[in-house]
Amino acid sequence: MRIVITIGGSILLKEYDNKKFEDYANVIRQINEQHDVFVVVGGGKPARDYIGVVRDMGESESICDEIGIQVTRVNARLLQLALKDISYPAIPVNFQQALEYSATGKIVIMGGTEPAHSTDAVGSILAEYVDADLVINATSVDGLYDKDPNKFDDAVKFDEVSADRLLEIVSTNETKAGTYEFIDKTAIDIIKRSAIKTVIVNGNNPDNVVVAISEPIGTLITSE
Ligand code: UTP
Repeated sequence: MRIVITIGGSILLKEYDNKKFEDYANVIRQINEQHDVFVVVGGGKPARDYIGVVRDMGESESICDEIGIQVTRVNARLLQLALKDISYPAIPVNFQQALEYSATGKIVIMGGTEPAHSTDAVGSILAEYVDADLVINATSVDGLYDKDPNKFDDAVKFDEVSADRLLEIVSTNETKAGTYEFIDKTAIDIIKRSAIKTVIVNGNNPDNVVVAISEPIGTLITSE
């Protein structure tokens, strides 16, 4: 199978050390033995911090996004370093470059591409571009709930949700730089049109990404 794994920056940089990068490198190495892997890395707190500084300068949202993108690329490079020689040693800045680099047989790791969406969308577009079979989105939540599980004990997790229903749920979310919460709208639109199976799992435990390949876990987003 060809698999795109997107990893939230907040997962990799929770503690600001190399541990999660190494843990993810091991998981990716393991998956790569049987599958063809592409990885997209998010910005996390450093991206939001830098975006805050630039916003205070009075710069536009697109410029704030551009700074966020730069940070995602730094994070992608860190994961690439942890993967050593089985990954391509440069971070592609667009999808064509990602495909070109993957022709070497190495794992390609990328960050953001252009303003106005998050790395969730990059993962979905990349999956469509390289004709992937599965997208696994490693986030800081167990999946999609009917209400905030941190606030409500009776919150219920959805095992499955359609792209249309998800679009309704996230349509009230903000789309400013650094503020994408569950998954961004562009990603959902792409999931709908490409019909590529997409699973949201809790990435705080990297093993969940391995489980998602063969067993139901987290929330599956379906195209209809
Ligand atoms: P992320 O994709 O990491 O956003 O990109 P996020 O969901 O807020 O963060 P985590 O990693 O899940 O915690 C960080 C920021 O970079 C810009 C956006 O401003 C985004 O919020 N970005 C990223 C883009 O504008 N385009 C991209 O392709 C990627």
